[in-house]
Amino acid sequence: MAPSLSGRRFLFLALLLALCAASTPADAARALTPRGAGAGAATKAAQQGGNATATASAADAYLAPHNQARAAVGVPPLSWSVDLATAAGKIVAQQQRQGGCAFADMGASQYGANQGWASYRASPGEVVASWVAQGRYYAHANNTCAAGRQCGTYTQVVWRRTAEVGCEQATCATGATLTICLYNPHGNVQGQSPY
Ligand SMILES: *[C@@H]1O[C@H](CO)[C@@H](O)[C@H](O)[C@H]1NC(C)=O
Ligand SMILES: *[C@@H]1O[C@H](CO)[C@@H](O)[C@H](O)[C@H]1NC(C)=O
Repeated sequence: MAPSLSGRRFLFLALLLALCAASTPADAARALTPRGAGAGAATKAAQQGGNATATASAADAYLAPHNQARAAVGVPPLSWSVDLATAAGKIVAQQQRQGGCAFADMGASQYGANQGWASYRASPGEVVASWVAQGRYYAHANNTCAAGRQCGTYTQVVWRRTAEVGCEQATCATGATLTICLYNPHGNVQGQSPY
């Protein structure tokens, strides 16, 4: 499931090009790019836990579309983890400071990780929708993605044994956003079906 090294380089290059394109105002193309990490693989106020109302609404903005996709295939809902959201917040903050808001390398994470990079200020719902949309390439009957397609962000969203999720988003200098959700226990275990 993990992309090859050359695949990662290509993605990163595509990302830099997209960042340049995104700095053109007004008519810049709106791009939203999902990325998943296999196993082995809110707002600032929410991250600080200072405002319970803001925390609950940020959590729900991510949770609701996850649980809608899960219900659609008969999988129980995820609960929100403040600890995972805090961990995701540290990762996006680091990518924002040091990585030009590029995707984080989550290959060694103990958690599942879905990422979304957008050339604009994408809402949590839009980002989760981009992951769920990969489901169109997933064939449950034989547990495979269509040839040449990715569907790992979708299978993580609907992975039955995953119980909790926490997410955070960073806004970058160009106005682009990087969003990360972490999942525990992680999904996308090779050879297993998500549900
Ligand atoms: C908490 O967040 C909510 C939603 O963003 C906002 O309406 C409210 O004013 C905030 N309360 C405080 C005390 O900051
Ligand atoms: C899996 O099933 C889908 C849908 O029936 C089919 O299009 C695809 O070719 C199958 N893939 C494999 C590897 O058998």
